[in-house]
Amino acid sequence: MLGAEEFIEDAIAEARKRIPGKAVIACSGGVDSMVAAVLVSRAIGDRLLAVYVDNGLMRKGETEEVRGMFEDQGLNYKIVDAGDEFFAALKGITDPEKKRKTIGEKFIRIFEREAASFGAEVLVQGTIAPDWIESGDGVRDTIKSHHNVGGLPKDMGMELFEPLRDLYKDEVRDLARILKVRSSERQPFPGPALAVRCLGEVTREDIEIVREACFIVEDEIMTASVSGKMEMPWQYFAVLLPSRSVGVQGDRRAYGRTIAIRAVSSVDGMTATYSMIPLEVLDSISSRITNTMKDSVNRVVYDITNKPPATIEWE
Ligand code: XMP
Repeated sequence: MLGAEEFIEDAIAEARKRIPGKAVIACSGGVDSMVAAVLVSRAIGDRLLAVYVDNGLMRKGETEEVRGMFEDQGLNYKIVDAGDEFFAALKGITDPEKKRKTIGEKFIRIFEREAASFGAEVLVQGTIAPDWIESGDGVRDTIKSHHNVGGLPKDMGMELFEPLRDLYKDEVRDLARILKVRSSERQPFPGPALAVRCLGEVTREDIEIVREACFIVEDEIMTASVSGKMEMPWQYFAVLLPSRSVGVQGDRRAYGRTIAIRAVSSVDGMTATYSMIPLEVLDSISSRITNTMKDSVNRVVYDITNKPPATIEWE
């Protein structure tokens, strides 16, 4: 790519040219959508509306954190509380691709609604190269429909502007540092959010479990990395498995759920190596999860597969 500063100037100039009126961006607070939003808002100011959809599937405390980032960057933004709509749409769906497509489509419908009421003619997206490469481009096989690509209906009725389309994650992070986007060092988070970390049907109860488990994994790994016990992984989170297994709680038989810990190092998400988490760190993650969620989780395992043959997320 061009030098980062030069890329920023070009992207701002291009946005001015391509967006004569109003535009809307789906902004999750992740580094990709934040960088795209900040670039475009520098070009067209409040003619860009950043829409954050609270889909009920986000991480602990995320909505408030994102609100803070929008405020910091002086973006024109709107937070839409849409949890009920998403859980209703996902009811009964267990197939991973169907889950992804349902979430993607719901997102787009909500944006269409917001875009129409704002009067936007252009949809800005933070799509980066691995999103469309892995979603199948007619040449390659579809590995997963990344939600910023897969859910996009043909009849959207808006022009599409994707300023980061040719970039990889590390390049977007470079831009984020220059633009002082606070999520620049945050780990990546998938578009379909915790739904792809909750295998099988997505329910409010299961999302609560995986949200708490993700929080614990993030907190323990961050603490261990900062104190020099391990290297900070590129991405680290928890996955809730749909099966149950037998355990004991006190002197009683329990039949509980399993949490898998996933932590990988990677440069751009295209390939990944599982992280060597020290046993003492795994141990404290496991104890904290099973103590905090005594009634639901009785087993914690660690995923030791690379990508390939696995992918980073489990769905
Ligand atoms: P996978 O699981 O395909 O993930 O090995 C590679 C990287 O992409 C993230 N990911 C997504 N990002 N929309 C996104 O913007 C998506 O639908 C999506 N699915 C996975 C994943 O967290 C990892 O960083």
